[in-house]
Amino acid sequence: MTTFQFVTVPRIVFGRGCFARIGELAEGLGPSVLAVVSPSATAGGRLEELTGLLEAAGLRVVSTPQRGEPTVESVDSAAALARGERCSGVIGLGGGSAIDAAKSVAGLLTSGGSALDYMEVVGAGRKITRPAAPWIAIPTTAGTGAEVTWNSVVAYPPRHFKASIRSAHLLARLAVVDPHLSSGTPPAVTAASGMDALCQLIESATSTGANPMTDTLALAGIRMAGRCLLRAYRDGGDAEARDGMALAAMWSGQTLTNAALGAVHGFAAVLGASFPIPHGVVCAALLPHVMRANVAALRAESPDPPALARYAAVGRALVDKPHLPDDQAVDGGLEFIQRLAVELSIPGLGTFGLASTDIPAMVALARKSNSMRYNPVKLSPEVLAEVLRQAM
Ligand SMILES: [Fe+2]
Repeated sequence: MTTFQFVTVPRIVFGRGCFARIGELAEGLGPSVLAVVSPSATAGGRLEELTGLLEAAGLRVVSTPQRGEPTVESVDSAAALARGERCSGVIGLGGGSAIDAAKSVAGLLTSGGSALDYMEVVGAGRKITRPAAPWIAIPTTAGTGAEVTWNSVVAYPPRHFKASIRSAHLLARLAVVDPHLSSGTPPAVTAASGMDALCQLIESATSTGANPMTDTLALAGIRMAGRCLLRAYRDGGDAEARDGMALAAMWSGQTLTNAALGAVHGFAAVLGASFPIPHGVVCAALLPHVMRANVAALRAESPDPPALARYAAVGRALVDKPHLPDDQAVDGGLEFIQRLAVELSIPGLGTFGLASTDIPAMVALARKSNSMRYNPVKLSPEVLAEVLRQAM
């Protein structure tokens, strides 16, 4: 058996209604905490609820909105606010953006400096060497699984660059996953964030960095998301489907941290830095085409490559037929994802300004990205370009 490590947050509290326990769960975080909050969570009344619960527990709450995905500027200004207000703990409440911003802020509070100092290429690439300030992740959408990941994706718009600040020191002290918080998520966001989770699970299950623990979680998550995503999209009030997607998303965060991802996320990093496309939409638009290209490349490589058996396992989990023979399972999985993207009305990447003339540059950048190294098969520049064309 391979040698592996498995890192995740030390404590997870999961279940409908557990958000109400945040006062007791946040013990030791204060006396003052900074809450980094998605605008949708504020509009939905969640910030008010959080503040009330924490104040009742004797904590002082300072809040800041995280609009869009985190940037060096938004993270630095939130960290400056936390320092100025003498906050000793941080809470991220919202989608992956608010949670990743909170994660970076917690790191900056103990390691000092600017987010840029810790970014590769555009910054100094410094390592986070101290435990972050204690922080709690409370997701309100089921998608990135950022509540249990050790990386925070931060953009640097002046250079059209996005990078992960990554360290085991950045893990939250606690993840509070209350599926009820996602019940008001609009269908288009449910679709894109749910496809991000499913994509992260599929890429983890087929990654060259996979291990027996990530395999177990990834296949359970794929089965769960295969059953629940369309239901949650069609009926946002379907509590069982929201429960299932919250679990699948959390598992996807655990598998991506420990197994790494693949070509979809290799592309997502560079496309997301160059075009105003939400991360979940990039992943959803690319997933069917990357899967098809990977399977075709594997089939061309040799008659029975081991990575194809991984796609068969993914297919069996998606269609929920545990005894389907390999070939039928692989094709069944591809068809399932293709159909799901149509049923979820995922827009093409052209909608966000990607043009054919951009393809060579995007392919060149994506080939250098970290996730591409873990793709189960090496895809040629021509194949990668064709994938982008199909996703437009
Ligand atoms: Fe993702």
